Amino acid sequence: MYLSLSYTTLFVCLYCVEVIYSQDASGTTLNASRTGSLSSDVVGSITIPTTLTSVSSVGASSIFSLTSSASSIIITAAPTSTASPNPSNTPFPPVGSIPRDYSPAGLARLWDLVGPVEIPPITTTVIPQTPIALPSPPPALYPSFFAVSPKDILPDLKFPKGFLFGVASAAYQVEGAVKDEGKGPSVWDWASRQPGVIFLTIIPADVVDLHYYLYKEDVARIAALGVNSHSFSISWARIFPFGAADSPVNQEGIAHYADVIATHLESNVTPVITLFHWDPPLALSAYYGGFASPNIVDDFIHYAKTVFTAYNGSVHTWYTFNEPQVFCSEYGSFPFNLTLPNGVNSSNAQFQCSYYLLKAHAGAVKAFREMHITGEIAFKSADYVGMPWRTNNTEDVDAVERHAAFGIGIFADPVYTTGDWPQILKDTLPPDYLPRFTEEESKEILGTADFFAIDAYRTYWNTAPPEGIGACVRNLSDPLWPSCNLEVMFDLNGWASGPASDPLTSWLQATPQFLRTSFKEYHRRWPAPKIYFSEFGFTQPFEGLRTPAELFQITEDSERTNYYMTYLGELLLSINEDGIPVEGAFAWAIMDNAEWNSGLSARFGIQYVNYSSPNLERTYKRSAFALCKFMAFSKTLQALKNSSRFFSAASTELNVGMRESLCVVHSDCAI
Ligand code: NOJ
Repeated sequence: MYLSLSYTTLFVCLYCVEVIYSQDASGTTLNASRTGSLSSDVVGSITIPTTLTSVSSVGASSIFSLTSSASSIIITAAPTSTASPNPSNTPFPPVGSIPRDYSPAGLARLWDLVGPVEIPPITTTVIPQTPIALPSPPPALYPSFFAVSPKDILPDLKFPKGFLFGVASAAYQVEGAVKDEGKGPSVWDWASRQPGVIFLTIIPADVVDLHYYLYKEDVARIAALGVNSHSFSISWARIFPFGAADSPVNQEGIAHYADVIATHLESNVTPVITLFHWDPPLALSAYYGGFASPNIVDDFIHYAKTVFTAYNGSVHTWYTFNEPQVFCSEYGSFPFNLTLPNGVNSSNAQFQCSYYLLKAHAGAVKAFREMHITGEIAFKSADYVGMPWRTNNTEDVDAVERHAAFGIGIFADPVYTTGDWPQILKDTLPPDYLPRFTEEESKEILGTADFFAIDAYRTYWNTAPPEGIGACVRNLSDPLWPSCNLEVMFDLNGWASGPASDPLTSWLQATPQFLRTSFKEYHRRWPAPKIYFSEFGFTQPFEGLRTPAELFQITEDSERTNYYMTYLGELLLSINEDGIPVEGAFAWAIMDNAEWNSGLSARFGIQYVNYSSPNLERTYKRSAFALCKFMAFSKTLQALKNSSRFFSAASTELNVGMRESLCVVHSDCAI
């Protein structure tokens, strides 16, 4: 069994050690040695002067509390499984060295790059008992003189008719069953096993929520809350295990998502689909270097066309890419930098990726329109338009512009306003970093979105680097180059912009007070007839450290609840007072899930998942009830009546029977 250890769990990578754990009748022995990710000042072998004060086995991640002479430490153990965090210690094979062998042997060769994976405890689709009964709602969080209850927040304001009140997820983060039913390995199946990539828990998402087999229960559970939409992604490697356009389609993958979509429609939960949420087929990295290669463009378009054809008429709202800026900005760093083709390196990989990804997006949207697919399509932006930190400081005004250009404008300007990169990027990045568009490419990219979507988790201030923006821009080795601005999460007097989330998501503070300004800026800069607030959410501090025995503390997620209630109140004002055309909001996440590098340690779910139980049972947290109450009759259900947004697979008519049953459950929650 492998364990990772951290002092007080903060800034974990600096302190991670690999611990070999053994237990016998005489007691517990922990032998620790440093992993490849450790800084060199950490000793290679550590004897832990420790007393084991408690061991609470929570299955998948046993928590050990120990006291040591230095500090209190927490060890989180990976599950006993066939999974190996770093199977071979062999480097990624040279790009192009693996032949395109589309046979079962070829697939096995690709899985060898990943190593053994954990077999899930459930291997067929589970049919839940219906209806899902909501447990009794939690009592009021605060006395009414201190805070109103969710249903009383701005009761006179409404969401527009047809508003999508949704939750969100992504394939890699919730599905598990990574090797089942013909799926090929994705880059994250491989990356999550490389040393130091996932900290605190070295647990690849082999099983995680097993949404792949438990989706029927998951859909029923959100429908019971009154949630009317679910934004989820399709795993490219389930549809094309080898990724490539000339490789075979996996019919099991097509059939799986067809049933996932039908299940949503039967429950009147509108499916919103993302084609790509950061999990490209590993095969494409092996064949040609994935998104750092021009070959990705046609392969992505072919995948997109296959999915459009399969689900046309059942899905209305589509995203090509999730947060492309975040995805591409990781492309030059470990371990993804091991998969780069000749001519691309850690410095320019981000912008090569951005260029090919935009072309892939534009090609997919062109196909969507030429194929007359019913519905709407765009991509999901992330980040924020900041505010100058120092008053009357022109450098800070410029810093805001730089932040907006590198964070959102890089993809949004070409698509929504100019057909070209933001001028700031062109002035900073030479063409061997950032390929320039031809006139024809610009024309193909401009206008390839039917709406604007933003994962708007937070908004902060920006300031210029201490050496000044000009000096930074001229110095390619400046650590802030090329964006040359700093994010500041506290005001000039040192007060935080908002309450902190879990230390593992140090990028996130709750900033509802800036939401209206932010949405005005999105709409002003990247105008579109409609906006989706495509993700927002919060990690309750230290929630990932709690054991199942502390369930009553996990479900009392007061700071996440406050985050959602304050954001949604401001969103109502943004729509009603500022006239911003927001037509949907999606809470991240439907349930706890694999938060990329933080694994299972950072929890975003409105539902808890018991990772130690074989059936991975879900439990609603307070925030789920708060969302439910907030969107009660005066808000969403009224808007749903007569809505034409909801259609079943068989017909485009609203399924009235289902709506009525939804209302019954919903009213239980709303009272
Ligand atoms: C946005 C990403 O789309 C999602 O994958 C991630 O888990 C959340 N942010 C929270 O970090």
